[in-house]
Amino acid sequence: MLALWVKSSGHGGCQLVDQLLLGISSHSQPFLEVIKCKAAVLWGLKQPLSIEEVEVAPPKAFEVRIKILATGICQSDNHVITGCLPVTFPIIIGHEATGIVESIGEGVTTVKPGDMVIPLCNSRCGKCSSCIHPRANSCMKYKFSDLLVMSDGTTRFTCRGKPIYHFLKSGTFTEYTVAEEISVAKIDAAAPPEKVCLIGCGFSTGYGAAINIAKVTPGSTCAVFGLGGVGLSVIMGCKAAGASRIIAIDINPRKFEKAKAVGATECINPKDYTKPISEVLKEMTGNSVEYTFEAIGNFETMIDALASCHESYGTSVTIGISLHSKMLTYDPMLLFTGRTWKGCVLGGWKGKEDFPKLVSNFMAKKFDLDQLITHVLPFNKINEGFDLLNKGESIRTVLTF
Ligand code: APR
Ligand code: ZN
Ligand code: ZN
Repeated sequence: MLALWVKSSGHGGCQLVDQLLLGISSHSQPFLEVIKCKAAVLWGLKQPLSIEEVEVAPPKAFEVRIKILATGICQSDNHVITGCLPVTFPIIIGHEATGIVESIGEGVTTVKPGDMVIPLCNSRCGKCSSCIHPRANSCMKYKFSDLLVMSDGTTRFTCRGKPIYHFLKSGTFTEYTVAEEISVAKIDAAAPPEKVCLIGCGFSTGYGAAINIAKVTPGSTCAVFGLGGVGLSVIMGCKAAGASRIIAIDINPRKFEKAKAVGATECINPKDYTKPISEVLKEMTGNSVEYTFEAIGNFETMIDALASCHESYGTSVTIGISLHSKMLTYDPMLLFTGRTWKGCVLGGWKGKEDFPKLVSNFMAKKFDLDQLITHVLPFNKINEGFDLLNKGESIRTVLTF
């Protein structure tokens, strides 16, 4: 059994301390101790995040303890606060991050202390029909409630004597977290952590929806509903795929400048029209929108996005997360004529294999994450970050430690 130990050194940096403990079992590792650190704990629904001292237990077998370097605030985190995504409290949320492996549990072979990593928000078991399928990335084994604890059913966080749940089997609004090895992607150590953290969720979700799921073709016309971090990343994907017309839609016109900067050719505000946007788009394009994307999480816009793509050869991808346990009704004739309606998790990427490649593409300047980052705040200003999101002022706020 090999256990390795690293000690962090100041803001954003990490230094491997040469303490290699060879031949020591996980029960007797003197250096794999509980870490006390700061974390933002969500004690209940609709409460502000509370910066607390928490204890982070050492990683168990096939787990990794990570020192978080940077983490983005995503609308899905907000969904937990508002109750749209039901969880058990208290919990540490956050799921879009970069960090350095601090220590590893028994049996871990694919990462080592000192590696820069992105914890994956779509955990995998590695064995189910989806995990082994070359095109699938949504594990069949885990129900959402399974993702609040590690695989042995317990948590690695405690605060004031209480176990604290993990969001999506990690939780990144904390100085240290624990994740499962299978859900950790090793990335280029030279990558800027405060930028490539967005590859952990928002960027990949949108970009992959265009590239992997819709498979946007050169010269096509696309329409993107919702211009948050996800929608803007869809636009980047449509542009990278060679779309010639990209129509961006949002009720907040302050999002239009940024949408154009990342590749939108036109922007429209539903508030300027009385008819549905599907009708507006038909008129604007002579009924030629091939690909549409819903990046909001709203039933009406999901249906309107579906109706907006060409009735015979169009494809619509629903990305937004909607209120749990509510059903959507739609006219099946929308599909009967030939439309394709698709969904995706994390843009269809298999994170452990694909995120290192996306990071390399970022380093090769194939896309620009700076466009998505409107605010960088110190971790202790996390509630300000959520206020900016709720006021529609931010695209992505990145918290640094
Ligand atoms: N029509 C058009 N735009 C709308 C509407 C509407 N009815 N309602 C909201 N919007 C816009 C908002 O103004 C905002 O710009 O949708 C955008 C959503 O952006 P964010 O809130 O920043 O969300 P984002 O992080 O991009 O995630 C979008 O994808 O992964 C999911 O959970 C996530 O459901 C969320 C969605
Ligand atoms: Zn699986
Ligand atoms: Zn997210």
